[in-house]
Amino acid sequence: MAEQKKLLRALAGETQDVPPIWMMRQAGRYLPEYRATRAQAGDFLSLCYNPELAAEVTLQPIRRYGFDAAILFADILLIPQALGADLWFVTGEGPRLSTITSEADFAKLGPVSDIHETLNPIYETVRILSRELPSETTLIGFAGAPWTVATYMIAGRGTPDQGPAHALREENTALFEALLVRITEATIEYLSMQIDAGAEVVKIFDSWAGSLKGEAFAKYALEPCRQITAALKERYPHIPVIGFPREAGDKYVGFAKATGIDCVALDNSVDPEWAAANVQVDGCVQGNLASRHMVTGGQDLIDETRRIVAAFKNGPHIFNLGHGITPDADPDNVQLMIDTVRNG
Ligand code: CP3
Repeated sequence: MAEQKKLLRALAGETQDVPPIWMMRQAGRYLPEYRATRAQAGDFLSLCYNPELAAEVTLQPIRRYGFDAAILFADILLIPQALGADLWFVTGEGPRLSTITSEADFAKLGPVSDIHETLNPIYETVRILSRELPSETTLIGFAGAPWTVATYMIAGRGTPDQGPAHALREENTALFEALLVRITEATIEYLSMQIDAGAEVVKIFDSWAGSLKGEAFAKYALEPCRQITAALKERYPHIPVIGFPREAGDKYVGFAKATGIDCVALDNSVDPEWAAANVQVDGCVQGNLASRHMVTGGQDLIDETRRIVAAFKNGPHIFNLGHGITPDADPDNVQLMIDTVRNG
C-alpha cells in the first residue's frame, strides 16, 4: 500500500506541494498545558519517566496544532542516567551529571544490557502513543548522538564550547573513544527498543557537532552516526533515520550519503537556497526557521517561512525550526507559522 502519512512520504523522497511540519521541542514550556502537566508530575525527569503523563504532553501539541509528527517526550540525557551516571536538572540552569574524567569514573558505568531497566517507562510511553496518535500522525523516537551525549557526561553540564570534552579527546583519546563506543552501543539498543515499541522514524540529535573540526568531525560526528544507522538499517530496513549534525556548516554536504541517514535536519545558520542546491540534491531535508520568529512573530515570520518553503519546494522537505522552540515563544506564532506553511 502506498504510504499515506505526509512525514513518511517526505522521508521516502516524495516532493509535496505542502511539506509536512513539526517542531523541535514542540511539547515544552511555551505551552500552558505542558507547564500544568509538568507540575502534576513534580519535575522534568519525573515527567519523562511517567508514561501516562509523558504521552499526554507528547499529544498536547498534536491536539492544539495538528502537526504531522509527534516526537516522543524524553531527553537525550536519559542514556547517561541509564548507564549509571547521576543526573538532575537545576531550574533555570539546565542539566547536571556526575563527571567522567578518568578511567575510574568510566569503570563505574554499567553495561549496555542494563539500560532497559531504567528506560522501560520510555518504551511504555511509545506504546501508549502508537495506540493514541491520530492515524495521519507519524511517531518519531530519538536519542542524542554519542559526541553530544559525551560532552555532557564529561563536563557534567552543558558548556558553551564543549571545552572539557575536547580536552579529554586530546589528552586521553583511548578513554574518550571507549566512552563513545559505550554510548554508541547503548544508543543502538535504545533506539531499537523504541522502534519495537512503535516509533516509525528515529532522529539522532548531534547538537554540538559543529564544534568538531576536520578529521575530528569525520571520526566523532559522522562515524558514530553511520554506525548507529547501519545497525538500525540491518534490523529495521524500513525505518527512516533523521540526522541533526547541528552547526555542521559545509559538512552538511554529503552527510546523508556518508552516514546512510534518510534526511538531514538543518540548523538556521544554513541558507535555504544553498542547502537546496548542495544538500537536498541527496534527498530529504528538514528545517530551518530560526526559533526567534516564534517569539517575535509578525510579517518577518511570514516572509521567512515563505522563503524556506519556496527554497525547498522542488524536493523532499520537512518544515521545522532550526533548533528547539524556546519557553518565551508565543503559541499564536506557532499557529501563524503552520498556517503560512499550509496555506501559503
Ligand atoms: O523535541 C521534543 O519536544 C521532544 C523532547 C526533547 C526534549 N529534549 C525535552 C526537554 C528532546 C528531543 C530533547 C533533546 C535534547 N535534550 C537535546 C538535543 C536538542 C537540542 O536542544 O540541542 C539536548 C542537548 C538536551 C539536553 C537538555 N535537556 C538540556 C540542555 C536541557 C535544559 C535546557 C532547557 O531547554 O531547559 C534539557 C531540558 C529539557 N528537555 C526540557 C524539555 C521540554 C525543558 C525541561 C523543563 O520542562 O523544565
